[in-house]
Amino acid sequence: MKILVVGGAGYIGSHCVRQLKEAGHDPVVLDNLVFGHRQAIANSIPFYEADLGDLTTVREILKREAIEGVMHFAAFAYVGESVENPLKYYHNNVSATYKLLQAMVDVGVNQFVFSSTCATFGNPSTLPITEDLPQAPINPYGQTKLDVEQALKNISHAHGLSFAAFRYFNAAGAAADGTIGEAHDPETHLIPVIFQTLLGQRDHLKIFGTDYPTPDGTCLRDYIHVDDLSRAHISVFDKLKHPATGLFYNLGVGKPYSVRDVINAVETVTGKTVPVVETNRRPGDPPSLYADNTKATSELGWTLQYKDLESIVETAWRWHSTHPNGYAS
Ligand code: UFG
Repeated sequence: MKILVVGGAGYIGSHCVRQLKEAGHDPVVLDNLVFGHRQAIANSIPFYEADLGDLTTVREILKREAIEGVMHFAAFAYVGESVENPLKYYHNNVSATYKLLQAMVDVGVNQFVFSSTCATFGNPSTLPITEDLPQAPINPYGQTKLDVEQALKNISHAHGLSFAAFRYFNAAGAAADGTIGEAHDPETHLIPVIFQTLLGQRDHLKIFGTDYPTPDGTCLRDYIHVDDLSRAHISVFDKLKHPATGLFYNLGVGKPYSVRDVINAVETVTGKTVPVVETNRRPGDPPSLYADNTKATSELGWTLQYKDLESIVETAWRWHSTHPNGYAS
């Protein structure tokens, strides 16, 4: 299929683009390069530097490239920033996404894969998180993703759009060959921040909160390899051929790891000691988030290549140790 990958130069998008190509599809990338990296995309892949909210340009690209399906990764994703500047998140994650969907409806492209998040569940009442748990985000970032999820149902009903919304847990790791990986600026995610500390770019890792109701007092998360996430996207297109299909999947490994577990895994993989300072909780962090991935594995025939944290961390270290300054390295 010819697939437009919006935000394809970002962390998850760029891994997906590679896998689309390897699976025999024809990806076309659209990215405004605010957070994406041109170097993350092979020169052989058609690339448009444009904004997803630019209705005229997106319509033109959809037509010119004869696009059959769209994957949408372009979003702002800093929870703390979303609390301080919610309009920035509503403009990009909601309004601009509606423009993209408008362009698709106008041109008649009716297969859509949407990056959603476990943050749509807020503080879940039970764990692990199944798809049918009530969604009650506790920050604007999660709310913007939930707004789009809900709009997709209406757009699907009215226009026959088929969509899959994937709720990501904590994307981590890098391509096995170490040539593309995670490069955010600013970086706030746990694993890259630990590596920046080991590379001497930070004095220490701050552990945000040690008094959570968890076995070791630090937050539990479900770290999933970015290539495992990406493979779910490729396999879902088969299910989107039928008009007005609407699918929701939780994508996680299903194993909770604490912040201290992550530090231990890094120390095992690298043989180095991580200097840490214990500090207060970070506002907006739920104590525990981990997935029940039964629906995705049974319906998509999706299997995980990376089932334990150390194997994920190993790929991340290969990337960070060879690219200490991200793509500028
Ligand atoms: N953490 C630290 N120190 C740091 C960075 C993180 O202790 O320097 C802790 C956090 O408090 C949290 C855990 O490590 O307990 C993981 O934090 P990340 O920032 O790596 O990831 P989050 O779980 O906060 O964020 C992820 C996605 C978001 C999504 C969110 C849903 O990156 O996009 O899950 O909760 F919104």
